[in-house]
Amino acid sequence: MNLRADGKIAIVTGASRGIGRGIALALAEAGAHVVCAARDLAKLEAVVAEIAAAGGKAAAHVVDVSSRESIEALVTATVAAHGRVDVLVNNAGITRDTLLLRMKPADWDDVIATNLTSVFISTQAVMKPMLKQRAGSIINIGSVVGLTGNAGQANYAAAKAGLIGFSKSVAREVASRGIRVNVVTPGFIETDMTAAMPEAAKQAMLATVPLGRTGTPADIAGLVVYLASDASAYVTGQTVSVDGGFHM
Ligand SMILES: NC(=O)c1ccc[n+]([C@@H]2O[C@H](COP(=O)([O-])OP(=O)(O)OC[C@H]3O[C@@H](n4cnc5c(N)ncnc54)[C@H](OP(=O)(O)O)[C@@H]3O)[C@@H](O)[C@H]2O)c1
Repeated sequence: MNLRADGKIAIVTGASRGIGRGIALALAEAGAHVVCAARDLAKLEAVVAEIAAAGGKAAAHVVDVSSRESIEALVTATVAAHGRVDVLVNNAGITRDTLLLRMKPADWDDVIATNLTSVFISTQAVMKPMLKQRAGSIINIGSVVGLTGNAGQANYAAAKAGLIGFSKSVAREVASRGIRVNVVTPGFIETDMTAAMPEAAKQAMLATVPLGRTGTPADIAGLVVYLASDASAYVTGQTVSVDGGFHM
């Protein structure tokens, strides 16, 4: 079994912090050259420096995934530099939580653009090099909320559920070309995204997690490394939760 990613070129969006940072560190540790992409260059450079200090390979690339031009430039630059893209991790995401009756059109549009339309654009962009290579692994970071729904997150849950249907459809389209598409659905992970949650709500949520703790970016990264590696060569179109057993 080869759980390594040696020599693979991997793009990780939202790699400046949180889950994406954890994924970038783990892929680099597994031997991949990681293109760390997000909007905050200083934070990206800190992640790249951390990878380099550990003996890994990485580069920073500023991207705004709500812009088609910006995503296409990221993929073009990666192919120009390395001649290929082996792994694409679509991790960048935002929340604009509010109850449906208060949800503004911008709350809906921003979340759909950043969390779902971006994945359509980046997946299309990597298709040409991956089809040429006849190999590739696309890993989309969804959410358990896309499976269960959540009051106050109709926009976010719609985007994350949409990601699953999108991924299964593309997985069917490109399986015969050696390209795999899977979704990882995290539960409650300690990052900036969840930091603002009131303590009482956090405790109530924790009571529903059989493993009895919140998750860490490293918990998600383990599955992503597996899906990026050749050990998962027979796995496509799947949605796998890493959530302490919250949704089963
Ligand atoms: N934390 C959880 O409990 C949890 C649970 C389920 C699913 N998820 C999903 O996991 C993913 C990562 O979440 P997280 O908790 O790590 O969130 P986070 O700490 O808020 O980090 C979000 C990341 O996305 C990037 N990003 C946001 N908007 C972007 C844009 N327009 N263009 C490029 N990059 C952008 C941010 O970088 P910049 O600000 O530097 O651009 C940052 O690196 C998201 O898709 C989220 O929905 C998280």
